[in-house]
Amino acid sequence: MSHVYISHSARDFDALLELHEALRAASIPDWYVPNDGGSREMADQSIDDAFAMIILVSAASVRSKAVRQDVERAKARGLKLIPYQIDKARLNGFFKHEVLPHLRLSSTTPEGLKQLVAETKQAYKKKCPVVAVMNLKGGVGKTTVTSQVFGAWQGALGGRILLIDLDPQYNLTQTFYEMDVADASAAQDRSVISLFEKSRLHARDTSSPADSWLTLSTDPFAPTRREKLVHELMGEGSPGGRLDLVSGQFEISKYAFASDPAALALIKEHFLQSIERYRSDYDLIVIDTNPNATFLTRCALEAADRVLAPMHADIYSLRGVRLLNQVIKEQIAADNRPDLSVLFNAVGRSEQSTFEADARNGAYNAKAGFDLASSLMRAALPRSGHLQVKAPKEGQPAWKQLTIHSGRGGGLKPIRESLKAVALELKLLLEDA
Ligand SMILES: Nc1ncnc2c1ncn2[C@@H]1O[C@H](COP(=O)(O)OP(=O)(O)OP(=O)(O)O)[C@@H](O)[C@H]1O
Ligand SMILES: [Mg+2]
Repeated sequence: MSHVYISHSARDFDALLELHEALRAASIPDWYVPNDGGSREMADQSIDDAFAMIILVSAASVRSKAVRQDVERAKARGLKLIPYQIDKARLNGFFKHEVLPHLRLSSTTPEGLKQLVAETKQAYKKKCPVVAVMNLKGGVGKTTVTSQVFGAWQGALGGRILLIDLDPQYNLTQTFYEMDVADASAAQDRSVISLFEKSRLHARDTSSPADSWLTLSTDPFAPTRREKLVHELMGEGSPGGRLDLVSGQFEISKYAFASDPAALALIKEHFLQSIERYRSDYDLIVIDTNPNATFLTRCALEAADRVLAPMHADIYSLRGVRLLNQVIKEQIAADNRPDLSVLFNAVGRSEQSTFEADARNGAYNAKAGFDLASSLMRAALPRSGHLQVKAPKEGQPAWKQLTIHSGRGGGLKPIRESLKAVALELKLLLEDA
């Protein structure tokens, strides 16, 4: 479980302890730099892991360099700020600009501390949205969009993001890690199978569900702590922040062959409960999926608030989107049905852009079987070598695979702008929903 970070000046230790006690009584974990001083790295790491930041606003904290660094880090990470005024501090320019717009709570109002705890609790309990990247057509850019658009989201808009590789081909995992690294992780069940079945990650004396193709483990289990399951893509030397991956593996194909519907229903429930659990650890969860309609498709659709369907500007992709919309409508109950956004990917300049323009004008609505024109995202991704999958280089950190962080090559700037534009439009769509 993540914590609330308390940014404070060392001089406000009494107020800090009072707040710490109030949060403890409300069972909200907190973290603050101890009075004997902690390193900047520790503070930054703790901010990156936090679900929100409380700022104790005082005459001393307004002057504190550490508090200013905290707020700057939080801003860069898109972290929710909850300032709390504890004396009659005169705000300087930085505080007026960065903190004042969020400042509503003060210790001088009756129930001030209670309100602060209530607001923090609300942020703590918040469950993040889930996006499934899906099209029932292969090779349209699902995996590319999952890694590059959401990598750009994390880099440019901040927030804690979890990517889940739900495709048994596990291309998303191989985007970031060499095959043997991915397979070694799966060999320990530190991978997607642990969202579905009780594994060695949950109990050491359990046998691996990946070892047995013919049986499904329906034993209930408590999802493990995030840190035990995920790979941190923004590791050492990276610009920081949280972009995690639940790595994939081939063995989840076994669900396609399972013949016991009651057991499969339980396995699906495990998956949904696991996702529900991790929704409070992140600001966004993104699931990369397989191109054919299977049990895994249903799991992703039931977990998702929104489906993002990349499509090429051609009739084959259109058919995939048509089928996808049909599956969503026919298989998922109306009260749990995800919204659908369609994203043009790998759009070239030639005749394909005519296809795009026609689609935006509604010319393909009838063929799609729904109002495709209004499901289309305004932003689109061009065809570009910068978005072509490149195998990870040996010894190179995972985050270097992200276009948003991959140096200064020619033509990179417009591609990054496109990735950011898609991320921003999607963020607004999710906030509106
Ligand atoms: N915008 C783009 N510009 C250039 N190449 C792209 C672009 N998007 C994807 N590609 C390339 O197209 C190929 C297919 O992309 P990707 O693997 O993301 O598709 P997918 O939908 O996940 O495929 P699958 O259905 O097999 O999972 C890859 O080689 C990728 O590098
Ligand atoms: Mg893929």
